[in-house]
Amino acid sequence: MAEPAAPNLANIQGNILGGFNKDFQSFLFLHFSDRDKGRAWLEHMAPEIATSEEVVAFNTLFKQANRRRGHEYGILKATWTNIAFTASGLKALGVPDAEIATFSEAFRQGMKARAATPFPTPPFPPASLGDEGDSDPSHWIAPLGSKDVHAILHVASDSHADLHATVARYVQNLDFNGTVKRLFTQEGIVRQDEPGHEHFGFKDGVSQPGIRGVDLPRPGGNPNEGNPGQDLLWPGEFVLGYPTQIDGPDTVNTPPVVPNPNPGPVSKSGPPWAADGSYLVFRRLRQDVAGFHAQLHQLAPANGLDPRVFAAKLVGRYHSGCPLEPLKGQPQGHDAPDDPAVGADSLRNNNFEYGGDPAGNAVPRASHIRKTYPRDEDTPGGGENNTQKRRLLRRGVPFGLSLNLNAPAPHDSGDRGLLFLCYQSSIEEQFEFVQKIWVNNSGFPQGGDGEDPIIAQSKTGLFACPGANPANIPALKHFVTTTGGDYFFQPSISALYHIAGVPQPLGA
Ligand code: HEM
Repeated sequence: MAEPAAPNLANIQGNILGGFNKDFQSFLFLHFSDRDKGRAWLEHMAPEIATSEEVVAFNTLFKQANRRRGHEYGILKATWTNIAFTASGLKALGVPDAEIATFSEAFRQGMKARAATPFPTPPFPPASLGDEGDSDPSHWIAPLGSKDVHAILHVASDSHADLHATVARYVQNLDFNGTVKRLFTQEGIVRQDEPGHEHFGFKDGVSQPGIRGVDLPRPGGNPNEGNPGQDLLWPGEFVLGYPTQIDGPDTVNTPPVVPNPNPGPVSKSGPPWAADGSYLVFRRLRQDVAGFHAQLHQLAPANGLDPRVFAAKLVGRYHSGCPLEPLKGQPQGHDAPDDPAVGADSLRNNNFEYGGDPAGNAVPRASHIRKTYPRDEDTPGGGENNTQKRRLLRRGVPFGLSLNLNAPAPHDSGDRGLLFLCYQSSIEEQFEFVQKIWVNNSGFPQGGDGEDPIIAQSKTGLFACPGANPANIPALKHFVTTTGGDYFFQPSISALYHIAGVPQPLGA
């Protein structure tokens, strides 16, 4: 089978297929009050925007330096910038209504409109994101979710000083221009006490989809995998204009190869210039860290579990990122319950499936990583080929300072959590599907399994936890609240010039 063309990394913005992976990040929410001045500003900004080619090359070099030296102490540094637009932003920059109408409905409406209104998800019943109660948009931080937000300028750096120097330069330029207004800035910062861990304490960013043409199979390894257990997917699942995964029964191949390795239809949305672009979901999720830990220490002993094991059952991985599920070829499980060596080892930490654990004895079926990516599990949607059409390229970063659980600060604002970012070619079929049809649904994958105990948008829920006693925890409290968010479109480099209404300079 001839491989269709690899993604055009030089035309795709940097964080999409590369992953900025920076400790210090700023998100500037912008408003354009004048079409022509907004376009002039965009033309001026376009050369600042990082490409996936640059970011992938930097990340490869960084890994090499790290591997040879055993550490990477500031030898390589970079500051990257990306930009994405809301539907009202595209309109403010003069994109014709007829073209905007060809983008996806979810994008055109924005996250706020989808918060509590059920939208159809055939063949499943209509459902909403469940952002109600404390997560209701009326409580969101202004101006998040407002139609005044036209663009998100994302700056990410290895150094706090470099980040702020770059942001200051951009802000000065906005002020000169006068008609591009900064409405709000959200800072993101990797936890300095536990780098790579989110605020509840778990290592994050362990599992990502592999992408054909970007992630290479290992020499002598499975040609349909990058690292072991990391299925290679067609880039059209994340970028417009490329082949996607093929849906359908898992037994379509003889012998069955799951997921189906053949290229499916090309991803399309928006006008032709949307190719090489991607939809960005931004969700500001506040985490009540003290509440989460208090519940662990109360419920774990009451259900006959060590709090660290109970915590791992909620997520599906231990604190270190080590999976609870036995790795392929190791039916007895790992050497130790939480094995930091496995947690840090990308050649081992994803090499597992759930087929050997249908009852959820190791990883409860409702645990966070099994809900959001059920791997080879049978699903009402049809199984793994369908599941691979629900994948997300996650690019989140924590916000707020770590909570010292031994001595909570007397004036702790409690405002910490995760800036959840993900890229996909369909908001409806990927992010929204995962949140609505899997995470918030206590009947997925099977009746009585319970909601996702980490991110379901309800205050309390059922959590079926085989191995605990009793195994059904009926009113598990949830500690993640949505405090803002929106849907953006992140155009290609050439499309930035198109939107700015100028020809792309040669070599830009
Ligand atoms: C405060 C909110 C959240 C926290 C604390 C959190 C935490 C985690 C952790 C600890 C992991 C395991 C490490 C890894 O595989 O990278 C993980 C994985 C994952 N999360 Fe979240 N997450 C949050 C929000 C979300 C949201 C909103 C979604 C999507 C609706 C999501 C989807 C996923 C997916 C798809 C995986 C990877 C599963 C796999 O490939 O095995 N997460 N998350």
